[in-house]
Amino acid sequence: MIVLGIETSCDETAASVVQSKNNKIKILSNILYSQFKEHKDYGGVVPEIAFREHVKLIDKIILKALVRAKKKFKDLDAIAATGGPGLHGGLLIGTTIGKSLSLSINKPFIPINHLEGHILSPIIEYDLKFPYLTLLVTGGHTMMIIAHKVGKYEILGMTLDDALGEAFDKVAKLLNIGFPGGPQIEKLALKGTPSIELAKPLINSNDCNFSFSGLKTSVLRILDSKKNKSKKFKSNMCSSFQHTILSIIKKKSELGLKIFKKKFPNKKKNFVIVGGVASNNFLRKNLEEFANINNFDLFVPMKSLCTDNAAMIALVALKKFNKKNKNNFTFQPLPNWHI
Ligand code: KG4
Ligand code: ZN
Repeated sequence: MIVLGIETSCDETAASVVQSKNNKIKILSNILYSQFKEHKDYGGVVPEIAFREHVKLIDKIILKALVRAKKKFKDLDAIAATGGPGLHGGLLIGTTIGKSLSLSINKPFIPINHLEGHILSPIIEYDLKFPYLTLLVTGGHTMMIIAHKVGKYEILGMTLDDALGEAFDKVAKLLNIGFPGGPQIEKLALKGTPSIELAKPLINSNDCNFSFSGLKTSVLRILDSKKNKSKKFKSNMCSSFQHTILSIIKKKSELGLKIFKKKFPNKKKNFVIVGGVASNNFLRKNLEEFANINNFDLFVPMKSLCTDNAAMIALVALKKFNKKNKNNFTFQPLPNWHI
C-alpha cells in the first residue's frame, strides 16, 4: 500500500509518500517547506500569509514528494490530507487538492486528524505496542492521552489556557529573540543558568491538566521590573523557563504513568512524547534520564517527525485504510476537529 500524505494545517506546506509492506512502514519521501521566514516579522503565524504560501507551493511540493519517492500518481492507493484541526485556509488547500487528485486517479481520499498524526508518529520508527501513554505538545495543543488503539484515544488532561509551544513562542516574543520561539529559547538557554524563579501553575493540582499562561505572565512581570535586559539575563531567563517546563512535565508525567499503571497493571509502561516541542534537545535528554530512573520506556520521534510533517498524515491513512474507503468528496475542513 502506498499513500500520499498532505499537510497544510498551519505554516508548513508538506507532502510525503509512505509505504506499508508486510506490516513495515517506510517513508519513501518527506518534503516540507517551513514558512517561518514569511511570518517572522509578525512574531507569529499570519493566517492569510500562510494561506497564500500554501496556494503557491502545494503543487510543487506534491510533485517533489512523488519524484523523490520514484512513484507516479497511478502508483498511489490513496490520498490523505489533514482535515483539521488547524487554520481554515490551509486545510481548504490541502483537502481540496487531495480530493481532486483522488478523483482523478479514482482512489479514496482520506481526511486525517492532525493530532492523531502526532499521536501515531512514533510508530513509523519504533515497534511500539498499544496501549501507550502520550504527551502531545504542539503549538496549538497540550494533552496527556492514553492511546488504546488506532482511533481510540482517552484524554487524561489538557491545557486550560495556552499550549506549551504557544508559551515558548510568546515568551520568545516577550524577550524579542525571534520566531518560532522554541528553537530560539533552546539556543539561548545553552548559555544561561536556571537562576530565575518562575511560576509553575497547576503543578500541585493532582491531575493531568496544564496551565502555561501564568508562567508566561511571571516572565512578563520580571521583564517589566528589569531595566537592563542584557544577553546574559535573557539566556538565564530561557534556561529558567526550560527548567520550569521540565519540572512541570515530570510531575504531570508521573501522574499520567500512575493512572496508566492502574488501568493496565500488566502492560509495559510505554510513554511517548510527540509534537513540535518534543524536538527540544534539553527536554529530550532530561526526560530520557527521567525515564531511566523511573523505569518506563520513553519513545520520542526523530525531530523531523516531531514538528509538523506529512509522513504522519500518510501513516494514519495507512493504518485506517480499508477496502470500503469512500472517496469522501464532500468532506469539509474541520478547524476545531477533536480527537
Ligand atoms: O507540532 P508543531 O510543529 O505544530 C503544531 O501542530 O502546532 O509544533 C509547533 C510548536 C511551536 O510552538 C514551536 O515553537 C515549538 O513547536 N517548537 C519547539 C522547538 N521546535 C519547535 N519548542 C521547544 N523547543 C524546540 N526546539
Ligand atoms: Zn502539529
